[in-house]
Amino acid sequence: MSEEASTHRVIDPSVLYLGTPVYLVGTKNPDGSTNLAPASSHFALGRMIVLGLEEGGQSLDNARRHGEITVSFPSAEQWQHVERLAGVTGKNPVPDDKRDAYAFEPAKFNRAGLTPLAGDEVSVDLVAEAPIQLEALVRRITPGVAGIYGIVEAEVVRVHAQHEVTVAGTNHIDPEAWHPLIYAYRHFYDRGAEIGWTRKTPFPTAPEPIDRWEASGGAWRVAADTGTTATVELLRCDGGEVVDQLTLTDQRDLRWARVQLAIGGKA
Ligand SMILES: Cc1cc2nc3c(=O)[nH]c(=O)nc-3n(C[C@H](O)[C@H](O)[C@H](O)COP(=O)(O)O)c2cc1C
Repeated sequence: MSEEASTHRVIDPSVLYLGTPVYLVGTKNPDGSTNLAPASSHFALGRMIVLGLEEGGQSLDNARRHGEITVSFPSAEQWQHVERLAGVTGKNPVPDDKRDAYAFEPAKFNRAGLTPLAGDEVSVDLVAEAPIQLEALVRRITPGVAGIYGIVEAEVVRVHAQHEVTVAGTNHIDPEAWHPLIYAYRHFYDRGAEIGWTRKTPFPTAPEPIDRWEASGGAWRVAADTGTTATVELLRCDGGEVVDQLTLTDQRDLRWARVQLAIGGKA
């Protein structure tokens, strides 16, 4: 298809970093100190976290030698600490392909202006200032097909979370309070405002009158969303006839209505 006729064009970008949270991976150096390196390639499922670490870096070497790691997630506002580590490696001598752009730095915490914090379950330091910190045991390292990275699969054995980013009295991270540092195409971002959520969220979020209506046995249907208001019809549970109508204008209530529309729109 010609470019003019298409909504997309074919490009050859130098990187494919679409936007993932930055973490600081802690690994144990041969002298027992903790090496700290910024990275963003990862995903987590269940209790496992999977990291993509470059071959030839000190972090991957360390993880192969000593199967304990820490993964500390800085908040968006801490990006400058991360950037202070962007031009250094814990590897001495600096590998040939990095010599132009990197310097050896054995004291990464000091360089970053961050504080080491001893792990409970692993003998590798966490980053004290990072709001979310993981301790993990390396279960498998698989060489990547391209030979330039290793896939580190690690089991998270302890999670530390700052009070401020948790929901008091629960094991939940408060998604409103948590601001991961997003790395997208070599730029750092904070996240934007909440726009919606998935039905699996543990937080009760229906507007109060609708909750009450449902508790009394009634049904409801989101009938319209104009962008600034949403209309919810309250229905009799038997015949389904409309008994009343609610107009939602509060921003969170509007997001609630949009979630309902996305998943089918009625109780
Ligand atoms: C924001 C950011 C994201 C990065 N993401 C990764 C990554 O996902 N994996 C990786 O191996 N290196 C990543 N790097 C590069 C490493 O931090 C860099 O190569 C560093 O020298 C590794 O240090 P080490 O040799 O002490 O392990 C990233 C760097 C920055 C600044």
